[in-house]
Amino acid sequence: MCGIVGYIGLPEKIAEHQALDVLLEGLRRLEYRGYDSAGVATVAGGTIEARKKSGKLANLIDEIEGAPLVPASLGIGHTRWATHGGPTDQNAHPHFGDDGRLAVIHNGIIENFAELKQKLSAAGHTFDSQTDTEVAAKLLGEAYQATGDLTEAMRQAVNELDGAFTLLAVHTEAPDRVVAARRNSPLVVGLGEGENFLGSDVSGFIDFTREAVELEQDQIVTITTGDVAIINFDGTPAEGKRFHINWDASAAEKGGYASFMEKEIHEQPKAVEDTLLGRTDASGKLTLDELRISPEELKRTSKIIVLACGTAAYAGTVAKYAIEHWTRIPVEVELAHEFRYRDPIIDETTLVVSISQSGETMDTLMAVRYAKEQGARTLSICNTNGSTIPRESDAVLYLHAGPEIAVASTKAFLAMITASYLLGLYLAQLRGQLFSGQISDILADLHKIPGKIQTILDGAEPIKALARGMAQTPSVLFLGRHVGFPVAMEGALKLKELAYIHAEGFAAGELKHGPIALIEEGQPVFVVVPSPRGRDSLHSKVVSNIQEVRARGAKTITVAEDGDDAVTEFSENVFFVPETQPLLMPLLTTVPLQIFACALATEKGYDVDQPRNLAKSVTVE
Ligand code: AGP
Repeated sequence: MCGIVGYIGLPEKIAEHQALDVLLEGLRRLEYRGYDSAGVATVAGGTIEARKKSGKLANLIDEIEGAPLVPASLGIGHTRWATHGGPTDQNAHPHFGDDGRLAVIHNGIIENFAELKQKLSAAGHTFDSQTDTEVAAKLLGEAYQATGDLTEAMRQAVNELDGAFTLLAVHTEAPDRVVAARRNSPLVVGLGEGENFLGSDVSGFIDFTREAVELEQDQIVTITTGDVAIINFDGTPAEGKRFHINWDASAAEKGGYASFMEKEIHEQPKAVEDTLLGRTDASGKLTLDELRISPEELKRTSKIIVLACGTAAYAGTVAKYAIEHWTRIPVEVELAHEFRYRDPIIDETTLVVSISQSGETMDTLMAVRYAKEQGARTLSICNTNGSTIPRESDAVLYLHAGPEIAVASTKAFLAMITASYLLGLYLAQLRGQLFSGQISDILADLHKIPGKIQTILDGAEPIKALARGMAQTPSVLFLGRHVGFPVAMEGALKLKELAYIHAEGFAAGELKHGPIALIEEGQPVFVVVPSPRGRDSLHSKVVSNIQEVRARGAKTITVAEDGDDAVTEFSENVFFVPETQPLLMPLLTTVPLQIFACALATEKGYDVDQPRNLAKSVTVE
């Protein structure tokens, strides 16, 4: 997820604001979309001037102060959340084509960039960065050479790209326009007087205009100082949807949601979808090309130890069930801060998988360092490109969830689980534990998950209403079995973190071994119910657990699979989620619990983005 801005204005506009002013203001507001690096390119006097710098936008501003740009009325700007290639100066956008006469910025993931890069290299192109964006820039440069028209060149280039992308381009020979294209990635147009704007979202230009046009899927837009022309990828003319921006700037950064927490809960379909993007080759075979551990070494893995903390540890627990089932490799899940003090058994056939959204959690980092000292191979599942833990690991599998701003993790949790599934399937593929047909069936079901999450989000109002009515609840228990157990733990953690309510998650089978003493009249108990389908369903056992607590006065709130009517009679409230394979259910059953915790905390008037006592990244042991 990156921040993108484009601008073109009449020369006389420079008295009000230069292109650079507009770009930097837009990037400042879009920095929440990514802050690994930032860059701008402007066109003036037949030349492109560009500045780009790793790190926060402030670094770019310092760079520009040291090397000012010529005043210009045309330009593009980018703030990056790295996917392909670490957060370095070279990988910062813009990237260039057509011998430096063309500048391109990009948000998204180009799935077929590797094969395109091969073709372009064979044609003599050289590359300065590791990014998929530079491949698009070279491709667009070739198309411009062939057509001499930036809009037509964009149209030809995007028809060769697979994946998710918003591309913006300027060319020295087309100083009257900015051309942009979007597929599976956001782009809006801002309408001005004698000037027009482009942005990943309206934050990019909200300080200059509140009149906007939304682009549809697979569309190209050409903005000049007096016109906005839209075509479809097939070249047919199109109309965008015009709208007035009612949000204030702060709401705009949150996409109109009341909080980043709510926004990120609603970004989960995209987070899962983007984490799945680009993971298979043309034949459909899983290719985790960023792993830097050889297939031979991975095949020798005798044991996997997952290291993580908090929510990431619950993602690791879900992973355990799936990876063990698919690969038959034993998986231990360890709280990182406990791991190195228990004298763990590690050798060179142990694969230590750390899971971390921030990649900076000191407990996890220290555990990874210890595991390396003991000879283990280390793999980082991480959301933050170039952070410490992946840098110190032998291999990395990046999430593509985009920056997670709210302290309490939501979309990164689902993305961690998704990435863990990919790792398990990849290991099973390498070791021949699953047939290719089985793997593709599971991948097909995974690709349906984003739509199923969206269904839950669309039907969230009853969950929010229940939460509002429970704002004074002093405590809530959460039960789950199998992969529902870590979901119950995560649901309890969300409620603790956001609403400061005592909440506890249990393995449902554990209740009768003591915790059931907690049950008294009216005690709210959430129960994550396994699918009733399947030979050895745990369903009947969990229904028994529900009856046990109800017999002692509990108020049971169940999360169950569509059509599971058996639980309705034992539930004060039941929230259904679409069905999927039992091992994939956590990607769905977690969502009602997140919505509940966020709504209850909001009802209590708490800051759900910055809860008391918490930090987004715990960089102390
Ligand atoms: C998640 O809601 C919490 N904020 C916390 O448990 C977090 O998951 C944990 O600190 C690990 O952080 P990491 O994923 O950045 O390593």
